[in-house]
Order: sequence, then C-alpha cells, then structure tokens
Amino acid sequence: FMVVTIAQLLNWKTQQRSITVLTAWDYAIAQILDETGVDVILVGDSLAMTALGHETTLPLSLDAMLHHAAAVKRGVKRALVVCDLPFLSYQESDQQAIRSAGRVLRETGVQAVKLEGGNSTIAQTVSVLTRIGIPVMGHIGLTPQSVHRLGYRQQGKTPEEAERIYQEALNLTQAGAFALILEHIPNELAAKITDAISIPTIGIGAGNNCDGQVLVTADLLGLTAKQPPFAKVYTNLREVIKEATENYIEDVKGKQFPK
Ligand code: KIV
Ligand code: NA
Repeated sequence: FMVVTIAQLLNWKTQQRSITVLTAWDYAIAQILDETGVDVILVGDSLAMTALGHETTLPLSLDAMLHHAAAVKRGVKRALVVCDLPFLSYQESDQQAIRSAGRVLRETGVQAVKLEGGNSTIAQTVSVLTRIGIPVMGHIGLTPQSVHRLGYRQQGKTPEEAERIYQEALNLTQAGAFALILEHIPNELAAKITDAISIPTIGIGAGNNCDGQVLVTADLLGLTAKQPPFAKVYTNLREVIKEATENYIEDVKGKQFPK
C-alpha cells in the first residue's frame, strides 16, 4: 500500500480529490482509523477535552501530548500523522517552537506539527520551522487556544474580520505551511481562501468548498456528551459501551459469566 505524504496532499488538491482527516488520541483508535484508509490522522489538542476531561485545550502540557502522540503513531502505518503543539509550547519564541516541534518529531515519530494563528509572529515561527525541515500545518478562524479572547463563536463574520483571516491564510502559505485548517468560518470565506492559495485547506465548520474535511473523532463516534453545531455524529458509542457494560454487570451478578 501507499503511505500518505505531504506531496500527495498537494497532488490531491490539484486533482480536487477531497482529503480526509480525523483526530486520534491513543493506539487502538489510531489503528482502527488507519485501517479505514483515512488520509491524515491528527493528534489534536482537543484530546485535552474529549479524552482528559479538561474544560478547554489550554491545560494540556507538551509532555502529555508527547505521550498521546507516540501511542497514536504506533498504531498508524499508512496515514500522515500530524501533532498539535499545545498552548504555550511555541508562542514564547522561535527557539521554544523549535525545541517543542523537535521533541514531537524525535520522540514520537509523527511527520508534522500544527500550530494556531496566522499573524506575522506566528507566520515567522512557521517559516523558521519549515526552513529547518519541520513540516507545519496552520490553523486559523476559530482557534480554541484563544478561547478566552474569541469564545467558540464563528469567526470572520464582519468584512474586517474576513479580510484579516484571508490575509492570515496568505501569510501562512507564504511562510511555508503545507496545509491549513479553517475552523468555523463562513463558507464563502473558506471557498475564497481555498481558491487563492496553493496549499490544501481542511475545513471544520467551514462549508463544503475546502480541499478536505476534519472531524473530532470523539464527536463522530458519539463519545462526547455534547458536540459543536458543525459536527456530524455517525454513531452513538456512549450507548454501545453502556449496553455492553450493563450486559457484563448483569452476567456477573447472575453468575452467567464466566461459564
Ligand atoms: O484539536 C483538534 O481536534 C483540532 C481539530 C478540530 C482541527 O485542532
Ligand atoms: Na487543536
């Protein structure tokens, strides 16, 4: 089989073949997702909320992320694996970003990192990492590490905001990012960005005109108690797990297991 490379993602944009991205947080989930042929597996810092029970993504440490990313990578043979750089593991300085991204690549074996934002400071960081050979995925629009400033509201609704996000997409492309996550922005803005840049856009709550889509796997599987409005829930694993567990409890109490 063919492993997924960054060059392949760029080809798929040119061919208008939609890129599929899902998040993962451990070995078992990563292995199952990889066997389906999903293109990119993202060790998203949303795992702070979906797997670790935090209110936001902010409390996740780099060390905790390394632990999850290494487990995910061990489950993946085909997909490209990308790991989020946690809050305050890259914003302090370019040196800090190099050290953190370097640890992610060396200690987990994943192929790329993702960081949030697109102003000139972040674009500079992306450029520094890219030039030393570390592939970077960008993430603009709703950036959850800025939740205390932005909230979880849709971004880019006013013409000024839309123009700023459009400029951020150009900045990050110029800086050498290999793809961009567009989160919770109007469809027309996502379409305009997708047309304007040479690298793939991966949408989440950004309409159907992006080069690919990403979902938080815990939402897709119905593991989360509450999902954002733009998520699609494909199955209800909470119910499946509850039913299996109740059957086990009943069997043990009724001396039906073990036989
Ligand atoms: O952490 C995450 O799951 C993400 C995706 C929503 C893109 O960043
Ligand atoms: Na994230």
